[in-house]
Amino acid sequence: MVFPKLSLILAALAASAVAAPAAEPQVTPAPNPVIARRATSCTFSGSTGAASASASAKACATIVLSNVAVPSGTTLDLSKLADGTTVIFQGTTTWGYKEWAGPLLNIGGNKITVQGAAGSVLNADGARWWDGQGGNGGKTKPKFFSAHSLTSSTITNLSIKNTPVQAVSINGCTGLTITGMTIDDSAGDTGALGHNTDGFDIGSSSNVMIDGAKVYNQDDCVAINSGTNITFQNGLCSGGHGLSIGSVGGRTDNTVDTVTFYNSQVTKSTNGIRVKASVGTTGKINKVTYNKITLSSISKYGVLIEQNYDGGDLHGTADTGVPITGLTIENVTGTGAVASSGYDVVVTCGSSTSCTGWTWSNVAVTGGKTYASCSNVPSVTKCS
Ligand SMILES: *[C@@H]1O[C@H](CO)[C@@H](O)[C@H](O)[C@H]1NC(C)=O
Ligand SMILES: *[C@@H]1O[C@H](CO)[C@@H](O)[C@H](O)[C@H]1NC(C)=O
Ligand SMILES: *[C@@H]1O[C@H](CO)[C@@H](O)[C@H](O)[C@H]1NC(C)=O
Repeated sequence: MVFPKLSLILAALAASAVAAPAAEPQVTPAPNPVIARRATSCTFSGSTGAASASASAKACATIVLSNVAVPSGTTLDLSKLADGTTVIFQGTTTWGYKEWAGPLLNIGGNKITVQGAAGSVLNADGARWWDGQGGNGGKTKPKFFSAHSLTSSTITNLSIKNTPVQAVSINGCTGLTITGMTIDDSAGDTGALGHNTDGFDIGSSSNVMIDGAKVYNQDDCVAINSGTNITFQNGLCSGGHGLSIGSVGGRTDNTVDTVTFYNSQVTKSTNGIRVKASVGTTGKINKVTYNKITLSSISKYGVLIEQNYDGGDLHGTADTGVPITGLTIENVTGTGAVASSGYDVVVTCGSSTSCTGWTWSNVAVTGGKTYASCSNVPSVTKCS
């Protein structure tokens, strides 16, 4: 039991702050007991660790979560951390089983530092929920990690395993850098039981950097529905649906502006690059860049840019409600990458003015067929 120890330390600190008179001039009395408490590093573990960590969050400058076993149907809730808190995951963090919406983990705050210690793993043991239906039916599956309302914060070296459904949701964040994260849901490939296990879903956020992520899953590796100045670089996506913008349109926030995917690899995936504008909606997709992307073993679409997404790809007639402007696709390598039943490059635009200012250079994606129903394709490229 670690928490009683903490209480003792807090009591001792409070007592010393009160009891330290002018008699000992070499000791600078804490000006405020709250600050003394904030200097504390607190370690929580076992089945009471999650609740204790939530309850004591504000009192701890550093929160160490050591082999915490989060009870079923509860969130490891660190959404109200004090400014400047450091959170360190050690050992294996586990969650009990229940059918519910989640999230299993929630972290929010300003100037927060989250770190995974060497060898640590956040193991959601998603196989207990996996039934091949994801969010579309069957068991109700908890979402894994809400990284919501984080500002000027970093998340480093988290290793996440076997999420029941979507892994990391980034929303309402300004200034978030995620480095060296692994999301490994590859066990969900067995029997096609893992489904809708998106790696990163990003909305209404700005100045987000995801560097060096490895995602093994069964849905979008990254899906950006809205946001500004978002970069995904030095990443690996395996087993899923590739690097996606959207779908954009039909939500509260429908603007994607200034997004860069750089120096990343997409393999064993349904798509490589996909930009999805929802048909019958409004919004905008501006200044999206894919640069230095390597594709291999793509089953359906190497590069797909569409203004007729409706929950499925290339449905109906493309329209113009979500213009795609300033799109740059360069240095995309995928020679022989697309299956012979797939398509290399597919573009559907609603009009010649809804897809403008595109740059397309050094794109070599081959192996698949030519799509017959491309529309209003900007002159810098062609369907192939
Ligand atoms: C993250 O992991 C890398 C590689 O193991 C290590 O060099 C680095 O120090 C770690 N960073 C933090 C903040 O733990
Ligand atoms: C974009 O985001 C990065 C962090 O990923 C930040 O360093 C940079 O200053 C941001 N750019 C602007 C124009 O805000
Ligand atoms: C893209 O490829 C071109 C031509 O091969 C090369 O000159 C350029 O440096 C590359 N850009 C990046 C960012 O790698």
